[in-house]
Amino acid sequence: MGQMLAIAVLAAGKGTRMRSAHPKVLQPLAGATLVDWVLQSCKPLNPQRRLLVVGHQAERVQQHAQRRHQQVEFVLQQPQRGTGHSVQQLLQPLADFTGTLLVLNGDVPLLRSATLGQLVERHHQSGSVVTVLTACLEEPKGYGRVFCDDQQQVSAIVEDRDCTDEQRRNRLINAGVYCFHWPSLAAVLPRLKADNQQEELYLTDAVGLLNPATQFMVEDATEISGVNDRSQLAACEQVLQQRLRQQWLAAGVSFLDPASCSLSPGTRFGRDVVVEPQSHFRGSNSIGDGCRIGPGALIEDSQLEADVEVTFSVVRQARLARGSTVGPFAHLRPGAVLGENCKVGNFVEVKNSRLGADVKASHLSYLGDAHLGRGVNVGAGTITANFDGTSKHPTTVGEGSSIGANTVLVAPVALGRDVTVAAGSTITNDVTDDAMAIARCRQVEKAAWHKPVDPHGADSTPGAEAEDDQPS
Ligand code: UD1
Ligand code: CA
Repeated sequence: MGQMLAIAVLAAGKGTRMRSAHPKVLQPLAGATLVDWVLQSCKPLNPQRRLLVVGHQAERVQQHAQRRHQQVEFVLQQPQRGTGHSVQQLLQPLADFTGTLLVLNGDVPLLRSATLGQLVERHHQSGSVVTVLTACLEEPKGYGRVFCDDQQQVSAIVEDRDCTDEQRRNRLINAGVYCFHWPSLAAVLPRLKADNQQEELYLTDAVGLLNPATQFMVEDATEISGVNDRSQLAACEQVLQQRLRQQWLAAGVSFLDPASCSLSPGTRFGRDVVVEPQSHFRGSNSIGDGCRIGPGALIEDSQLEADVEVTFSVVRQARLARGSTVGPFAHLRPGAVLGENCKVGNFVEVKNSRLGADVKASHLSYLGDAHLGRGVNVGAGTITANFDGTSKHPTTVGEGSSIGANTVLVAPVALGRDVTVAAGSTITNDVTDDAMAIARCRQVEKAAWHKPVDPHGADSTPGAEAEDDQPS
């Protein structure tokens, strides 16, 4: 059993350089947010405590984190006077804590759990009071530079904006991630001064006050990428998407054009799934064995059983049983539940509706608040008129029924089993089992109808036919 570990994530800053109305740590990133990735990355370390320092739009950040992560304590930093000031807010909640504190920046989302684990291990082995995670960058611009003495001890960290030109040439940078012997850090925190360009209290200054201070360099420098602006956010998105795709390629998913597809950490795939180009997965999804997704699909918070096909379609908060096919150009909205081997074809929209097994709605339909029994055939252009201008009403269709093309089912309405509805009907009354319902005007035929004669003697011109009641 190692020492006690507490993890603090600094997430109180405004993120001015994002030029956003939203707090930086809530910026969307690879199917989650910046802070989600950071909180997730430190979970496998099984810390005794996880603390999130919030400040700018604290309530929003806290609400978000509470919904998605368990056992996170929130610490308020008000106002925000720098990273050192942020960590000063831990003095009270960690007053009785005597173990190791791992500090993470809320805007450094690519760190792998394994790297964090190595940092903590190295810290404990070395017996240092602080271990700074560092990287050697070709482009160190924007990061604090780490300076070491002859004994390889960290002597100072100088922010980019506070560096001399000479210091700025140092390519060893501070990742913003540190392991501290907490009681030692707590002792020097009150001594921080704001004598720097930003007039903030810098956590990096605390490192200079501690001894022995060592550094641990990451192998893969991309892991320490920080997000201060949108272009860095986009770069991190690419890295995380690439990682997610690699993970699923290794697990037996085929991507025909991986770079054109995006995944979320909450999406799970079975075996032999084929993902065609331009397919996107958001939120939490489970995609069963042998599914074929795309080209062109957006799938969000949905469960697909085995062998489902989705082509050029949008599927949101829906459940699709084995063997169903969707699209091209279908829209499954929240609460769409498809039974086995259903077919939802082109220009069909389904919302809050249960379709039994083998239901076919192949063309141009809207099914809302409907319950269709097994084997129902929905003719082209069938519409459930579920809204009366004030509220929504249900439609039920019993199993084996067949609805003719261009039918309007005016809800609330219930059709029994094995009902047949004639094409072009507007159904306003319930229909009993085995009946045939027809609700449209009869066709009228005028016998021996003569085309009107052109008064100028020319042949009749197209589009100039006279109406029945027109004087001749
Ligand atoms: C910081 C480091 C820098 C390092 C870089 C790595 C300092 C002084 N500098 O710089 O050496 O190379 O990270 O990415 O620490 N925060 C608070 N309260 C505040 C200010 C910031 O909680 O008052 C949080 C922010 O939400 C953010 C993190 O601390 O998640 C880092 O703050 P930021 O202003 O982005 O620091 P950098 O300038 O990037
Ligand atoms: Ca930063």
